[in-house]
Amino acid sequence: MSKTLIRGAKVLGGEVQDVLIDGETIVQVGSGLSDEGAEVVEADGKVLLPGLVDLHTHLREPGREDSETVLTGTRAAASGGYTAVFAMANTFPVADTAGVVEQVYRLGKESGYCDVQPIGAVTVGLEGKKLAELGAMHDSAAGVKVFSDDGKCVDDAVIMRRALEYVKAFGGVVAQHAQEPRLTEGAQMNEGVVSAELGLGGWPAVAEESIIARDVLLAEHVGSRVHICHLSTAGSVEIVRWAKSRGIDVTAEVTPHHLLLTDELVRSYNPVYKVNPPLRTEKDVLALREALADGTIDIVATDHAPHPHEDKDCEWAAAAMGMVGLETALSVVQQTMVETGLLDWAGVAERMSAKPAAIGRLEGHGRPIAVGEPANLTLLDAAYRGQVDPAGFASRSRNTPYEGRELPGRVTHTFLRGRATVVDGKLA
Ligand code: DOR
Ligand code: ZN
Ligand code: ZN
Repeated sequence: MSKTLIRGAKVLGGEVQDVLIDGETIVQVGSGLSDEGAEVVEADGKVLLPGLVDLHTHLREPGREDSETVLTGTRAAASGGYTAVFAMANTFPVADTAGVVEQVYRLGKESGYCDVQPIGAVTVGLEGKKLAELGAMHDSAAGVKVFSDDGKCVDDAVIMRRALEYVKAFGGVVAQHAQEPRLTEGAQMNEGVVSAELGLGGWPAVAEESIIARDVLLAEHVGSRVHICHLSTAGSVEIVRWAKSRGIDVTAEVTPHHLLLTDELVRSYNPVYKVNPPLRTEKDVLALREALADGTIDIVATDHAPHPHEDKDCEWAAAAMGMVGLETALSVVQQTMVETGLLDWAGVAERMSAKPAAIGRLEGHGRPIAVGEPANLTLLDAAYRGQVDPAGFASRSRNTPYEGRELPGRVTHTFLRGRATVVDGKLA
């Protein structure tokens, strides 16, 4: 079994320590540890975090391998410091059967770069009409516990109720893409001052907020657990805060892009900024940051949504929605949450590793950096400053809104159960 000594790392951004890995496990944490028989990684005061966990990744396989594959997506994940990702179900075919989720699970195992936990669709074909075989997906080798029609909203209240009832039996969760479809017909961007000036179809905040309000009440009624994907408005934060104060079993995520970018960017008509839910206003961005800091929003999830350039390099109205995010997420969180003083690194670890693993009931991830725990670790050079260059991405797609932007921090090493998947900033 191989040994690795990570020497002189600021564990969770705090005390400088050495961490000794033997095989797949952390076997010692302390100062002045012996490096005998171990390969040494000089951390030089870099920040050591538990391997990141993304509850919301689009890996595109099967069916859209021109955008991403499980292999390229997990390489992108490892580059960004992730050791596990949950793969969304809006593939072709849709991941609505045991067969498809098992296929994605197997491809993840073969990739070796990070663990892949498939998400199952709530409804057959994401059509919102008929419940998919949730039990069969749960009982399959993939052991699905998170279900989502993401990309589409489960807008039928009866179907949503049945899904919440069904997953309750095995401690599963329904992850809702909250978008009232009738209120967003023809919508191209956030509804507000900018959409009015540009004459683009507006996407009102109430389209998101009305579904969240309904779903937290349904979760309360059923006594089940609901997770809200990509909160994007200040009003959504208020509803989730109210629901939590009432004891409703709701969790929520925010994406890095909704923590940083606003709808002012749409004035450029550059489709790289086209995303669902849309970029909102400064007021929303500030409310989301505060809610992530105070725990109203539980986690950061990337909504990594790769698209090939044919689907993005076109006029605004025709462009696909979504942006890649795995390789820039930690940097954006550093800029918006750590460098603003809203979160320390322990708080980041909780929101990007421990809590997403807990919400998705994923074992072996999101664990403390302590003796006996699996060595899933990320080493971050937080002092680094550099411009984002999509040419260097491991993802098959390049649709990042941050091209040329200076962002702080760089992942130099990622360890998946003791094996380095990233060394000195390069995939191993
Ligand atoms: O922007 C988005 N892209 N939002 C979604 O809900 C789906 C995703 C995709 O699959 O491209
Ligand atoms: Zn979504
Ligand atoms: Zn998504």
